[in-house]
Amino acid sequence: MTSTVTRAPSSDFDPFSTEVLSDLHFHDGILREVAPVVDIEKYGFYAVTRHVDIQKALRDWRTFSSTDRPFYQPNPFRPVAPLMQDPPDHTQTKAVMLRIFSRENMAKMAAYFTETAENTVDALLARGPVSLDAYYDVAAQYVLKVFPDVLGLPTEGRELLLNFGDAVFNAFGPQNEHHFEKMRNGAPALEWVETNMKRELQAEGGIGWQLYTAADEGVISEAEAEQLLKAVLGAGFDTTIFGISGALRAFADNPDQWQLLRSRPELVEAAFEEALRLYPPSRFGGRVATKDTQLAGIEIPSGTKLLMMWLGAGRDPRKWPDPDTFRIDRDNPGGHLSFGFGIHTCAGQAVARLEAKSLLTALLNRVERIELDGEPRRALNFQAFGHDRIPVRLVPASR
Ligand code: HEM
Repeated sequence: MTSTVTRAPSSDFDPFSTEVLSDLHFHDGILREVAPVVDIEKYGFYAVTRHVDIQKALRDWRTFSSTDRPFYQPNPFRPVAPLMQDPPDHTQTKAVMLRIFSRENMAKMAAYFTETAENTVDALLARGPVSLDAYYDVAAQYVLKVFPDVLGLPTEGRELLLNFGDAVFNAFGPQNEHHFEKMRNGAPALEWVETNMKRELQAEGGIGWQLYTAADEGVISEAEAEQLLKAVLGAGFDTTIFGISGALRAFADNPDQWQLLRSRPELVEAAFEEALRLYPPSRFGGRVATKDTQLAGIEIPSGTKLLMMWLGAGRDPRKWPDPDTFRIDRDNPGGHLSFGFGIHTCAGQAVARLEAKSLLTALLNRVERIELDGEPRRALNFQAFGHDRIPVRLVPASR
């Protein structure tokens, strides 16, 4: 039996219009149901929309290379390494990253994250029930403290990092007013980052210091150490804030799941995975086809640039029963693509998971109810998905 290969259906869908950005799950979900691979005619790239096909493409890095992608142009917010590399360059960079997230380093982080999470939640609940913004007052404040601390960055000026993250995830996309506004807003933060990535400002033992030590050992160059530190900061900051705040929003919307977690705290890791599936902080990743190929019976000519749309894939009904429902006791927690897949799978996922686990554990031990206290607001962002306001009321548990 011969299988037929067809051309990608073309669509006038604009993944970057304000309308689409305002409701990504709805619109990327519609695109997913159009076809597994869609030609986005306005910009001349293809979108890969379904879980199984994205996974298949990402497994084959030789055909779906990371060295180019839609809209790629050099941008000071987005370092080249490691996301724009293929092996062998990528293999070497990734080895340095994984060395930094060693078992020993992770154990140190675990103790520090737990202590900070408990202190943070105790301080928030000091006066009983409290109304606050779960995005800013809980997730952002916690990550703004622990993540730059483990990187070993100076303390002063860190609040600028929120603008930096916002610019990083709007750097790839059409050059329109939205893009330029984000670049302008991010400029002071970029200056802070450029200054504070320098070797002499890294606290001893921090991730920055370890990267420069790898340069001293000749494993990477000094310039690569600086690039990698910037890449880790750019990749690991907003994503984690959005991931944790997405989880808090999901619990505020689903009080029964919060009660389930409180009665079965061993589900805390699965709960974070489920939140990442439902609310993936990263919307898509980019690749380029290095030869004529096909996916799901759709031809992809050599040189085609593609976006792997993993936000929509997180709710692919072919993969997930009842995909829009937040259920922390699913059979397959973690089968999502929200940390990517294949050789570029997130280098810092263990750090993000640990930050989330520490904070959610501190909360579940202290908070009886998380009640929605107003309308959550989504951040308008090309490549990231998240909230920039989640009004909630935290009701402490009696202890
Ligand atoms: C919930 C939080 C996070 C999410 C959802 C997330 C998501 C992702 C995704 C989807 C990719 C793959 C991109 C691609 O293939 O095109 C990725 C790569 C990466 N992430 Fe994360 N990330 C998170 C946290 C972090 C943290 C905390 C760090 C650093 C400590 C980090 C560092 C990196 C790096 C360095 C890469 C590039 C890996 C490579 O190219 O081999 N991420 N991340």
